[in-house]
Amino acid sequence: MKTTLIVAMDKARGIGKNNDLMWHLPADMKFFKETTLGHIVLMGRKNFESIPEKYRPLVKRENVILTRNKSYSAEGCTIINSLGECNDLFSENDERTLFIIGGGEIYRLALEANTIDEMIITHVNENYDADTFFPPFELCDWKVETILTQEKDQRHKASFTVIKYTKLSSNRK
Ligand SMILES: NC(=O)c1ccc[n+]([C@@H]2O[C@H](COP(=O)([O-])OP(=O)(O)OC[C@H]3O[C@@H](n4cnc5c(N)ncnc54)[C@H](OP(=O)(O)O)[C@@H]3O)[C@@H](O)[C@H]2O)c1
Repeated sequence: MKTTLIVAMDKARGIGKNNDLMWHLPADMKFFKETTLGHIVLMGRKNFESIPEKYRPLVKRENVILTRNKSYSAEGCTIINSLGECNDLFSENDERTLFIIGGGEIYRLALEANTIDEMIITHVNENYDADTFFPPFELCDWKVETILTQEKDQRHKASFTVIKYTKLSSNRK
């Protein structure tokens, strides 16, 4: 099964503040939805709880929540207590992609586990005052391809570029 990390970050790798996003970029939200529909989305418990109640679980996707709390439950979601449980839950032959959708702790865990095939990163061309960050990574480990650009306009107070990073095969576990 393919594993793809998807994130939006500012120029300082900031991804969130006060358990919320720091921008409203409809074209990026649309891109996120279209990209992940029909697939599996794996998220940290804090990220799940930051999604407004009316939008969670994320529709038409299998929602998986990672928590250390063994009695945690959320309607319509699969709960796991370690990243490794994904291997028991999903078959290698599953045609869906496992999307790692954050937040900061979960991105860090997934990068350390070195099982990411691809990262789709929305680079927001502004600086915000984040309290949660995406970890630094070695650019030379990835093939880089721009897949979407958005200029500032009435609906977008910041411009952004979406870049796909594909792990160079010799560097994946
Ligand atoms: N810009 C983006 O693309 C993006 C995407 C997603 C989220 N965000 C932002 O990121 C922020 C949230 O990120 P965060 O780092 O605070 O929290 P998080 O990664 O969403 O969730 C952290 C929680 O995950 C669980 N967890 C972490 N490591 C674990 C492990 N090894 N085993 C089992 N469970 C584990 C724990 O849950 P328990 O405490 O329940 O045990 C922990 O409190 C928010 O501001 C959100 O808006 C931004």
